[in-house]
Amino acid sequence: MKQNNAEMKDGNIVEVEDLYVRFSRDEGILKPINGFSFNIPAGSSIGVVGESGCGKTMTAYSLLRILPRGGQITHGSMRLRRKNGEVVDLAQLDADGEKMRHIRGGDVAMIFQEPMTAFSPVHTLYDQIAEVLEIHSDLSDQDIRKRVVELFDLVGIPDPESRVDAYAFEFSGGMRQRAMIAMALASEPALLIADEPTTALDVTVQAQVLRLIKKMQRKFNIALMLITHDLGVIAHMVDYVYVMYMGEVVEAAPVAELFKNPLHPYTRDLLNSVPKMTGPKQELAHIKGSVPSSAALPPGCMFHPRCTRRVGEVCWTGEPALVEMNKNHYVRCFIHSPETSGMSRHAEETEYDA
Ligand SMILES: Nc1ncnc2c1ncn2[C@@H]1O[C@H](COP(=O)(O)OP(=O)(O)O)[C@@H](O)[C@H]1O
Ligand SMILES: [Mg+2]
Repeated sequence: MKQNNAEMKDGNIVEVEDLYVRFSRDEGILKPINGFSFNIPAGSSIGVVGESGCGKTMTAYSLLRILPRGGQITHGSMRLRRKNGEVVDLAQLDADGEKMRHIRGGDVAMIFQEPMTAFSPVHTLYDQIAEVLEIHSDLSDQDIRKRVVELFDLVGIPDPESRVDAYAFEFSGGMRQRAMIAMALASEPALLIADEPTTALDVTVQAQVLRLIKKMQRKFNIALMLITHDLGVIAHMVDYVYVMYMGEVVEAAPVAELFKNPLHPYTRDLLNSVPKMTGPKQELAHIKGSVPSSAALPPGCMFHPRCTRRVGEVCWTGEPALVEMNKNHYVRCFIHSPETSGMSRHAEETEYDA
């Protein structure tokens, strides 16, 4: 194993560098993450955006070390600055070890897309949130009760004293998502990962839940990683956006810059498929084709089979490098730079023991 290189830039709470994830399946090797890199400055918010199947959830699962069976981090590092100041490389920790158990839910909390699957159907919400506090705090039983009620109140669940004893199925979708936010906040995490937190909700409730997440992020100065397939969701939610395609960054920019000046054809296609809130109803543009299987990564630029703005042969023979075009605005596309990446994204490096 590689030595743990636990140096971090001041101000960052997460630094993911050149992450690769592989799955061994009977059908072959799946390659959901292919050199993904991103940083999260403490207290700031980033968006990770891409279509379904681009590797967003696998990135979150990698950070929490909860990849489905057969999934393996084969390359890269994921440095985290813990609440106690310790810097760890999550990629090097034992996924089932004590340290990872404390980080999961303690330093890093996650809000899942479907709260019905995150909550146990046979325990009350109180029991489940109290359990988090039993593991990650040293509050007495009495104080735990007070704290859970306080958390319910904080996330806007009416009548918190009695509602804490309800079961998840007794709540509406929006209330359930509020309860999950309460559970995520229980341990006062330094990083909150929200994976499509509002996809299952109707539009009005969606806006309320997003506002709540933003409010909590600001109030507790938590770093937020908001994962979504919908660029429309992130405009008022995050400072910086990573556009992800087939497990790598194709464009990254401050949020206003990305909307004003999208450079990658994929980002432009994503923007064109965001419904406009004003003006006449129009047909949404859809991106040609669908995300290919990660069992067969396209050669060259991975977006080239679907791209409508190819510049020539280089698009399928060369692997474009991620290049800074404007301040903090990066793009990986031959339209903007002829530079190729030094290493092959399709390399089968394995630095980690199976
Ligand atoms: N349970 C799984 N087992 C193995 N591979 C998976 C599993 N779930 C997803 N994958 C692989 O990871 C890729 C990315 O999936 P995912 O991270 O869930 O995408 P997203 O969250 O962006 O929709 C999929 O295209 C598939 O190849
Ligand atoms: Mg997902």
